[in-house]
Amino acid sequence: MKILLTGSNGQLGWELMNQSKAFGFEMKGVDLPQLDISDSVQVRDIVADYRPSLVINAAAYTSVDGAETEKDLAFIVNRDSPAHLAQLCSNEGIPLIHFSTDYVFNGNKKNPYKETDPASPLNIYGQSKLEGEINIRSTLKEHIIFRTSWLYGIYGHNFVKTMLGLGRERKSIQVVKDQYGSPTSTNDLSEAVLTIVSKIQNRNNIEWGTYHYCGQGITSWHGFAKAIFDIAKHITSLKIKHVEPVSSDAFASKATRPDFSALDCQRIKKHFGIHTKSWRQSLEIMINRLFNEQ
Ligand SMILES: NC(=O)c1ccc[n+]([C@@H]2O[C@H](COP(=O)([O-])OP(=O)(O)OC[C@H]3O[C@@H](n4cnc5c(N)ncnc54)[C@H](OP(=O)(O)O)[C@@H]3O)[C@@H](O)[C@H]2O)c1
Repeated sequence: MKILLTGSNGQLGWELMNQSKAFGFEMKGVDLPQLDISDSVQVRDIVADYRPSLVINAAAYTSVDGAETEKDLAFIVNRDSPAHLAQLCSNEGIPLIHFSTDYVFNGNKKNPYKETDPASPLNIYGQSKLEGEINIRSTLKEHIIFRTSWLYGIYGHNFVKTMLGLGRERKSIQVVKDQYGSPTSTNDLSEAVLTIVSKIQNRNNIEWGTYHYCGQGITSWHGFAKAIFDIAKHITSLKIKHVEPVSSDAFASKATRPDFSALDCQRIKKHFGIHTKSWRQSLEIMINRLFNEQ
């Protein structure tokens, strides 16, 4: 199966490329500057040239705070580009896999969000991603949108790598204690994505639509940071001694984030038999892999 992957230099894109061989897929990865997904002519030309059977869009504007000041760019990449991509896929009869975020929710719920819960983003990033979802749904039937959360992997920038860097330099850091969610490994998410791609390839009865996928279990950013250090201290030397839990009010971040954004992943289990994995165990696998592959 020939797959065109956009955003292949991102943390998720890289892992999808990495795992595609094991699944036996031919995958062409493209990213900036070779392909700008907001340039519909470039996208049309690459699809015409490569003739994929499926497109995976892992390209996105992902800076949550940056989107508050680069609003136009965030909407072009996260709202308008998926719309053009979905239109092109619809014209060519190609299914599209796309990614969205837990930040489409406002965090007022007290238990994990289902796909059917109303979205009401608190920040520009979440709003731009939500409008991208809406555009895909209204244009292309054959789509899968994965909503995921707190993504990290061995490649690219993420919270785990930031914490490890700080843990080597500082004895003490402050981490937010009052925002809860589910860390998700790109390794696990890629496996889930490519499992569904296999089902699409085998023309199994596909229930198109939106699916939640995140690590199993819920923690705060503070709990996540503590787990990172607890695991890493057995593998590398860290200076960190104290991880101080602080309220989000103590940080002057540009974007407001939901207090609670864990996702309910029952739907993907029901329709595709895909089970989520313990966020702590997946974190352990990632940190070991990070140090072994360096
Ligand atoms: N990271 C998270 O915690 C998180 C949480 C929930 C959902 N998600 C979603 O999951 C997906 C993958 O996220 P990720 O963490 O892998 O993101 P990422 O590491 O930031 O990767 C995104 C990739 O897209 C590229 N890109 C940006 N604008 C582009 C454009 N106009 N044309 C082509 N490529 C462009 C980026 O290039 P540059 O780096 O050069 O800009 C980068 O290589 C996204 O849809 C994201 O919204 C992420």
